[in-house]
Amino acid sequence: MKICVLPGDGIGPEITAEALRVLAALRSDGLPIETEQALIGGSAVDAEGVPLPQSTLRLAGEADAVLLGAVGGPQWDGLPRDQRPERGLLGIRKSLELFANLRPAILYPELANASTLKPEVVAGLDIMIVRELTGDIYFGQPRGIEQRDGETVGFNTMIYSEAEIRRIARVAFGIAMKRDRRLCSVDKMNVLECTQLWRDVVTDEAKAFPEVRLTHMLVDNAAMQLVRNPKQFDVMVTGNMFGDILSDEASMLTGSIGMLPSASLDASNKGMYEPSHGSAPDIAGKGLANPLATILSVAMMLRYTFGQEEAAQRVEAAVKRVLSDGLRTADIFEEGTRKVGTTQIGDAVLAAL
Ligand code: IPM
Ligand code: MG
Repeated sequence: MKICVLPGDGIGPEITAEALRVLAALRSDGLPIETEQALIGGSAVDAEGVPLPQSTLRLAGEADAVLLGAVGGPQWDGLPRDQRPERGLLGIRKSLELFANLRPAILYPELANASTLKPEVVAGLDIMIVRELTGDIYFGQPRGIEQRDGETVGFNTMIYSEAEIRRIARVAFGIAMKRDRRLCSVDKMNVLECTQLWRDVVTDEAKAFPEVRLTHMLVDNAAMQLVRNPKQFDVMVTGNMFGDILSDEASMLTGSIGMLPSASLDASNKGMYEPSHGSAPDIAGKGLANPLATILSVAMMLRYTFGQEEAAQRVEAAVKRVLSDGLRTADIFEEGTRKVGTTQIGDAVLAAL
């Protein structure tokens, strides 16, 4: 079990340190875990001048799984586009062909008050968003800013091939089969040809999964339905850009983006695992960050890349135990619970493990 650890920027190093302790505990319990660290994002720009050094890409390519903290920060915002920390993230996704991004939004009963929505709307929420991650307007050519007829224009290309749609649809149907067997595909077929193809291909792929109930929804309606009645969804599948937006929206239904892990998988279930939240530069280095999303990302890694369901559930149970014991980092703190820092909540997870 070779794991490449990329702490990244901001709170990245603090939260991955706690996840590394969990991995060390699992190793001493017998899992053959090996870890190696490398640079990505702004810290790689500072050290080597590029957000995704070749050495990092090589290490990540050789590993079975990658654990990523977070990238980005205000000190790198002024850099040219190809040197920005985000480029490191997009580059590794594309190079490793991590086309399937799994973003669960789960409301833990202990955190029911953290959501800004009424408890009855979100109680028991458990949605899985499957976002296509290596295509769409994020990578489409041509793109750029140029002069046309004496005016500056900016342009990007939304593009999907049938094969790209089919492979992400297949992943989403497969996940739905292991859950409540309901899949909602999100597009904008009333306006965009690219997503008409999306709808046609997903509909065709459904023939291979007769037990899954497939529905389609336009993205604007989906954004609205997610806050109106989120529990109507089980699994959602959508393209890269719509998925970026809807997954942020879904995460906030749970009130605590600090709790949400994610997985980005290739065709052979090799994957990169990262918390859904960002690098939180405002609290970096203060020992305040919530490491639970990163620790839960380790659980996803055990499940999806290594097929270690029992170990995955052990990690998830440890996190739930810590929450039910009343420990909270600042982002999920409420009256009547005990506010602790990054390493303290890590200690508690280890003890529960
Ligand atoms: C995400 C992020 C990234 C994305 C950024 C940082 C490039 O928002 O993982 O959702 O847009 O994919
Ligand atoms: Mg995003």
